[in-house]
Amino acid sequence: MAAQNPTSGKAWLITATQGGPEALKQETRDVPKVEANDVLVKMKAVSLNYRDLIIPQGMYPFAVNTPVIATSDGSGEVIAIGSKVTEFKVGDMVSSLFHQGHQSGLLDPRSIKTGLGGALDGCLREYALFPETALVRAPSNLSFEEAATLPCAAVTAWNALYGNARPLKAGDSVLVQGTGGVSIFALQFAKAAGAFVIATTSSDAKAERLKALGADVVINYKTDANWGEIARKLSPRGEGVDIVVEVAGEITLPQSYEAVKIEGTIAMIGFVGGAGNGGSALAPLTRVCTIRGVYVGSKAQMIDMNSCIEVNKIQPVIDSEIFDFEHVRDAYKYMMAQKHFGKVVIRI
Ligand SMILES: NC(=O)c1ccc[n+]([C@@H]2O[C@H](COP(=O)([O-])OP(=O)(O)OC[C@H]3O[C@@H](n4cnc5c(N)ncnc54)[C@H](OP(=O)(O)O)[C@@H]3O)[C@@H](O)[C@H]2O)c1
Repeated sequence: MAAQNPTSGKAWLITATQGGPEALKQETRDVPKVEANDVLVKMKAVSLNYRDLIIPQGMYPFAVNTPVIATSDGSGEVIAIGSKVTEFKVGDMVSSLFHQGHQSGLLDPRSIKTGLGGALDGCLREYALFPETALVRAPSNLSFEEAATLPCAAVTAWNALYGNARPLKAGDSVLVQGTGGVSIFALQFAKAAGAFVIATTSSDAKAERLKALGADVVINYKTDANWGEIARKLSPRGEGVDIVVEVAGEITLPQSYEAVKIEGTIAMIGFVGGAGNGGSALAPLTRVCTIRGVYVGSKAQMIDMNSCIEVNKIQPVIDSEIFDFEHVRDAYKYMMAQKHFGKVVIRI
């Protein structure tokens, strides 16, 4: 079987932590031999995350080892397996695992340094060899493009909702910010759990799409600067929300404090809104709420999430512009301009 395996394939590398999309360069790479615990994958699609945009701008706060093959999130078809592999067979559709070393439980100093497309070679290549532990079977209701959206944004959203000391339950309320990948997955998972969802966006056109996905309330954060206060008033019983999925950072934090209920959780995910200066360190005390940092999630969480996707027939939301392998830089630029709704996908 090994003799039939490809010996080389094209890959896009991030060559520097400056220059943005121009730091991406295509190279041909050798495909290593399949060892006993390895799985060889013909990559079919990747999706972009905000992280992929900021790594070649030097803004990513975790480990990056350039040159590195770009992107954490990919899907593909298993084309060869090693003699000791038991979890996968040839022909399976698989997704990558964001932190290759984070199998279950908590991140630790070792596993936090195993992020794909940053510390380790990622998915934007024709062929990739992974250890068996570093892949997850894709939900059977998804296409390759959809399965490529799961490893970072979806697992992060899942962890924000279910990794808390007090996990989401039916009847809870959740606030999601904007229409990026993490936020839309959080909306879909929260609705699948029977939660009340309040979403924000800067665009009235995107607001309609949020409603179509099941958002109970949508607030325009550009025209309503006090969107947190409004969210609290419109939440069940006017008590505030159980979980805020905080993706914009310090700029949105003051309004997130307005929105969160007593004993609620603000899951700190990102800083897509840039740095601000309004987030008071005293607020967790005055609101009696927990702020929880989230860094993607484990393989065990991803497997639970995939069951939810299958049972609820959830389809990841992919932007209508799908890019091809020769137009990778255009995909990066499109997402940087925030023209997208949901996930930006590149077909390989
Ligand atoms: N901690 C983790 O493990 C983890 C994992 C994944 C992502 N992240 C972080 O989470 C953030 C979101 O990632 P993503 O991939 O989902 O990003 P994305 O797809 O690029 O999200 C962009 C969207 O965010 C919304 N947005 C921008 N400024 C906003 C503001 N001031 N208030 C509310 N929404 C705002 C916009 O929505 P509208 O166009 O609708 O206004 C925009 O389209 C990033 O900072 C990323 O680094 C962290």
